[in-house]
Amino acid sequence: MNVIPSRRAAGVTYAIRYVERFAQARRAAGKDILNLNIGDPAKYDFDVPAHLKTAVKKALNDKNYYSPSAGLDEARDAVAKHHGVSMQDVFITGGVTEAIQIILNVLLNPQDAVMLPKPTYPLYTAQCMALGLKYVYYPTDDQWQPTVHTVPANAKALVVINPNNPTGAVYSKKILKNIVNIAATNKFVLIADEIYDHMVFEEHTPLAKIVKDEVPLVTLNGLSKNFLAPGWRIGWMALKNMETGLLTDAIQNLLESKLCAPTPFQFAIKPALTGSQKHIPQMVRKLKKRRDYVYKRLNEIPGMSCTKPGGAFYAFPKIPAEDDYNFVRRLCEETGVLCVHGSGFGKPGHMRVVFLPQEKVLEEAMERIEGFVRNLKGR
Ligand SMILES: Cc1ncc(COP(=O)(O)O)c(C=O)c1O
Repeated sequence: MNVIPSRRAAGVTYAIRYVERFAQARRAAGKDILNLNIGDPAKYDFDVPAHLKTAVKKALNDKNYYSPSAGLDEARDAVAKHHGVSMQDVFITGGVTEAIQIILNVLLNPQDAVMLPKPTYPLYTAQCMALGLKYVYYPTDDQWQPTVHTVPANAKALVVINPNNPTGAVYSKKILKNIVNIAATNKFVLIADEIYDHMVFEEHTPLAKIVKDEVPLVTLNGLSKNFLAPGWRIGWMALKNMETGLLTDAIQNLLESKLCAPTPFQFAIKPALTGSQKHIPQMVRKLKKRRDYVYKRLNEIPGMSCTKPGGAFYAFPKIPAEDDYNFVRRLCEETGVLCVHGSGFGKPGHMRVVFLPQEKVLEEAMERIEGFVRNLKGR
């Protein structure tokens, strides 16, 4: 029997993982694939800080129970102190992914819309599809800085991803202030996804520093990037300028319907936020070297141009082809370099390149991309 999926489910796509299909035939033929598609530092030469592993290993001895749905008190307290909010305003989730799902679900009715940057991180659009919610894009300029001019009447929330995935842009204070003013005038909630906030090569300002009491703010963060533990599935949301009441009750209810985030891994949150941070400068030094190399090489390829990523580990060059999907598919099939097409982030004519791998791999990848583009021109 051919069972038809719901329209909601059939509309969900997540390009970052979808592109693995491009690699299947080449992998099956025993040829190599250079994965520049997934932003997973733990797949490369980055490791979870030892004191976090120790905390989790200890918890695995006798802390294997369900935690409260909002998270362990010790973890909520550490996050609350870190963000300068009260413990009642903090919820621990199964990665930032679950926090995104919950906050969109809690804030939006079907007629409402969430404003997303273009290009965007496709988890937001995927979750909107899955939940049957509307989104509208706001534009960014040629440096990928947001330029929010018009606000639809049904806007209920606006997402700021800073540092940005897929562009690596870090937003200026001026831009952030402008967004806060627009949110205050139009009365919508701001959602700040700052999961890469320690992975920066220039000054980064958390949105919570700009927001005083004029708008409600939800800050999202977690252990996946800054603390190099994406497989642990630990994230959180911290609310500012929202009274405890109907909204927090709804968040609590949704979290109860998911039981809880993995308990033993929640024991890493306090040591992450209050313990040694010495892995951060080491990590940033490594990333900056790789950023510099990839930025230079991409800009040397004829027909490609790239702005300098100020944070995270992504470059988002313009490519010499209109059909970015087929460009990325053929690049993978012919050279083994797997990137993600820009249209997967809502921005055709580009592709996203992850610069997490060691220099040797990046050099090989850049050689192959360059060869592919030169060959393309000759065809
Ligand atoms: C901007 C952004 N938000 C959220 C996530 C998902 O994070 P988590 O692993 O905490 O679910 C990612 C992962 O790449 C991301 O880039």
